[in-house]
Amino acid sequence: MPTQDLIKHFKNTFITDLSPRIFFAPGRINLIGEHTDYNGGHVFPATISFGTYALAQKRTDQKLCFYSMNFPQAGIIECNLSDLTYNEAHDWANYPKGMIEFLKSAGHTIDSGANILFYGNIPNGAGLSSSASIEMATGVLLEGLFDLTIDRLDMIQLGQKVENEYIGVNSGIMDQFAIGKGKKDHAILLNCQTLKHEYAPIKLDDHVIMIINTNKQRTLAGSKYNERRAQCDQALADLQEKLSINSLGDLTKEDFEKHKHLIKDEINQKRAKHAVYENARTLEALEKLRQNDLHGFGKLMNESHVSLQQEYEVTGVELDTLVKAAWEHDGVLGARMTGAGFGGCAIAIVAKYKIDNFIENVHEKYRNAIGYNPTFYTATIGDGAKEITGGVL
Ligand code: GLA
Repeated sequence: MPTQDLIKHFKNTFITDLSPRIFFAPGRINLIGEHTDYNGGHVFPATISFGTYALAQKRTDQKLCFYSMNFPQAGIIECNLSDLTYNEAHDWANYPKGMIEFLKSAGHTIDSGANILFYGNIPNGAGLSSSASIEMATGVLLEGLFDLTIDRLDMIQLGQKVENEYIGVNSGIMDQFAIGKGKKDHAILLNCQTLKHEYAPIKLDDHVIMIINTNKQRTLAGSKYNERRAQCDQALADLQEKLSINSLGDLTKEDFEKHKHLIKDEINQKRAKHAVYENARTLEALEKLRQNDLHGFGKLMNESHVSLQQEYEVTGVELDTLVKAAWEHDGVLGARMTGAGFGGCAIAIVAKYKIDNFIENVHEKYRNAIGYNPTFYTATIGDGAKEITGGVL
């Protein structure tokens, strides 16, 4: 939607003639390195052109008025700066409220209310991080509107804290980090233990990254995400009885094979195996990309999906059907689920000249097996969260 239309909506919603400032935070895909972030491993995400627009203006009183064009039926959600506690009735607005609350507690001065309108074009529940996108859009908005100096890493960590402590999902740092530090045409290799990171150019020559939405809705809060995390924590605790390690990310595949018997529960052993092998695959994938070996990169993506299906058990019939259909197509170098799993999206690296044929085939196979349609998007890798100057991204 053009920013002029968003401005019009803002003025109509809050009955004002003054133009708001406009901020944007993207969503993300993860190329490889899934469920490794909270296990002290590596991830390799990139920010996409879909995201969350946040338009805002300060108020002269202490009221915060939130409106989302995605949830018009919720109307304007109001609260006061003096009471930012989680409130179930405030629904989606708890995400920006949490950011405001935690930035204030971190010592930043937010001394007046604001009118804030959100518009997101990330498909809802698609596993492309719409919630982290709202958090980071709110972060850059507060920074701009209240003239704050917020270290970007602090903003990222506050976003994760909102998710963990305010919303109640034990997610890792990947989404907020990718969205906070994304760079056009690059993916970020992030060591989630040290937070050291490097950018890797994504040059796919005659290929594109397709995002394929299962259209099976999911929310992290309602998923088995926290359960997986607890299983990995238990596996780590078992290993720590004999080994001096900080996280599963400290183990090589060889270390794991040598010591896996220490993990008492068989299921926890499978979860830990995924975390260790996926971390190794992620580092290998960066090497393949550096060598311009897209076939090698694609093969690792495929192995990642198999491990998420068999060891981590977070794929489900919808994602498996999509990914299998993608693998069967001769224009595809690799395909896997992306994000937390349990529905959401898959990604595939597809030859440009085969895109139409790919969409047609995968669509048909998915529809026949699942009974409804998937949706296809071409991923464009854009920048991280920022203010939009002059109304252009
Ligand atoms: C979600 C979480 C991330 C990460 C992925 C799985 O997106 O928010 O922290 O754990 O799932 O890789």
